[in-house]
Amino acid sequence: MGFSIAIDGPAGAGKSTIAKRIAKELGFIYVDTGAMYRAMGLYFQRKNIEDTVVIKRDCKEADITILYENGEQQVILNGENVNGFIRTEEAGKMASHVAKIKEVRFQLVELQRKLSKTSDVVMDGRDIGTHVLPNADLKIYLTASAYTRAERRYKELLEKGETCELEKIEEDIVARDEQDMNREFAPLRQAQDAVLIDSSDLTIDEVVKKIIYLYANKQ
Ligand code: DC
Repeated sequence: MGFSIAIDGPAGAGKSTIAKRIAKELGFIYVDTGAMYRAMGLYFQRKNIEDTVVIKRDCKEADITILYENGEQQVILNGENVNGFIRTEEAGKMASHVAKIKEVRFQLVELQRKLSKTSDVVMDGRDIGTHVLPNADLKIYLTASAYTRAERRYKELLEKGETCELEKIEEDIVARDEQDMNREFAPLRQAQDAVLIDSSDLTIDEVVKKIIYLYANKQ
């Protein structure tokens, strides 16, 4: 069993950027669990299926595995590298939808736990500290106001040349928070022993520094 750092929090709080940086600095593996739910969502999106009964029944047909290329996590869905298809708004919504289903979670949590057994990991998601790795060595709950998160996303989309409305993005973010926090099974919640970091007024560097400092004190 290696050292494990769990980073949970709502969509757009900066988890993946920060988790990646920490993994690089510490020489750990970065496990992006959201990407696994996105791949599962993509599987059903391609089949035009939203019915939870069908998703429950067929989720085993989506064989999801992870590999690393130059330190970057690649998600493999039934033999196909789907990294290029899972970053859209639609895939995010679909991920949140399939993530409500217990059978989907069982399947992906098994894979996540396996990864943590073989390496030192920085794992980010919604239920890592509360459910996937309840004994994680360091737990962080990273959040930011809905407005700040929407603004960051808005800037990212503009940079990509996409047109979008800030208000609509904030609405989507609030809706996704609601869905992730209020589902029955393993909802998004701060673990009792997690350190809360609000990144609304912090730079990425400042958050990374804080977490590295917390890690150093755990050694
Ligand atoms: O972090 P993300 O935006 O890539 O995650 C996409 C969706 O997947 C998110 O809205 C909820 C779900 N998810 C989850 O339920 N549990 C996780 N550990 C990670 C993601």
